[in-house]
Amino acid sequence: PTRDGWQRVDAYLSDLLVGHDDALESAIADQDAAGLPSIEVAPLHGKLLHLLARIAGARRVLEVGTLGGYSTIWLARGIPADGVVVSIEAEARNADVARASLTRAGVAHKVTVLEGRAADVLPTLADEDAFDLVFIDADKESNTIYLDWAARLGHPGTVVVLDNIGRSGGVADPVSDDAQVIGTQRALEMLARDPRFDATALQTLDRKGWDGIAVALVL
Ligand code: DHB
Ligand code: MG
Repeated sequence: PTRDGWQRVDAYLSDLLVGHDDALESAIADQDAAGLPSIEVAPLHGKLLHLLARIAGARRVLEVGTLGGYSTIWLARGIPADGVVVSIEAEARNADVARASLTRAGVAHKVTVLEGRAADVLPTLADEDAFDLVFIDADKESNTIYLDWAARLGHPGTVVVLDNIGRSGGVADPVSDDAQVIGTQRALEMLARDPRFDATALQTLDRKGWDGIAVALVL
């Protein structure tokens, strides 16, 4: 397909199935104004996360990589009033933008944004109740560490979503020297071979270009 073609389909589907949403659009506007990168999930992808949380009946959601809180709002809206999203963010400025957007979206009472590197923060969650859904969308080099913690902090039936598994086709390059691609390849190999997971992956083509997600079940 041409770029023009798939962008038109993305806009058509987004308009039809997501539509206008003040809190989500304001979160993007504030993220842009604060100079954060525009690498949040696409609207249809955000809604998929939201629906997966509802389909899974998730009460406790873990997000690795908050950015400006766009996906966090989608996830928080997918859990009950007494549920919780724990979202980990390495950049203090991102966490500040996210907290303001979560408050404006009316979901701040359901979300705890923890600042720090996820590899340091994740072990501190080991004594809490298990998570029902885990969304991993942070530095790709650490994806296998995050998947390992998703299995440890989850339970049989926990849904795991891993973002950016396509990387414009880079993932299928066996001799890539891009550390993010290699991190994603190691993560996909882990999902294929680690007996704690069963997984699939889908390529996506949307306003962010050619990429994809992996969806896994913790066994
Ligand atoms: C990048 C990171 C993401 O999580 C994403 O969805 C798109 C791009 C990046 O680091 O380039
Ligand atoms: Mg991403």
